[in-house]
Amino acid sequence: MLAGTVLYVVATYALMVAAFYFSRLRKFHVPVMVFIMTSDFLFPIYLVMTRDWYTRLFVDEDILTFGVWVHFMLLIALFVLYFVQIMAGHRLLKGEDDQRIRQEHRAQGLGILLVRAFVIITGALLAQPLESGNT
Ligand code: HEM
Repeated sequence: MLAGTVLYVVATYALMVAAFYFSRLRKFHVPVMVFIMTSDFLFPIYLVMTRDWYTRLFVDEDILTFGVWVHFMLLIALFVLYFVQIMAGHRLLKGEDDQRIRQEHRAQGLGILLVRAFVIITGALLAQPLESGNT
């Protein structure tokens, strides 16, 4: 059984694809993207508070595994992409309607969808199933 956290992030991925597709609807696009990025930033904090991360990472030595490292590196890449995407989005909102900024924002957006998909997949592989008491 999939953990609730995995179902939640998959749902936010679907929402992100919709906000990507309907980017012309600024009133939908911007709040949805801001919500998902904020949720992604807070997610590790939620996991640390609700999981026995010390046992998992240090006692069980999961921190030494390839899966955890790949997941972590992808997450860092995603946050860097979020940062540059917010800058480009902010410039578009200010009315700098340069074609270059749009292209940049679009290409970075595709990168975000790709990297976030891999963050979710690697996270799902690491997630403990519901039977172990997680939500
Ligand atoms: C704080 C975050 C963001 C802000 C402020 C923002 C803002 C904007 C604005 C103002 C536009 C122009 C909409 C129009 O045509 O009137 C736009 C377009 C777009 N945004 Fe965002 N955005 C953000 C995050 C994202 C993210 C995370 C993605 C992708 C996952 C994304 C993908 C796109 C795409 C594909 C377009 C269309 C670009 C084009 O014209 O070809 N944006 N965004």
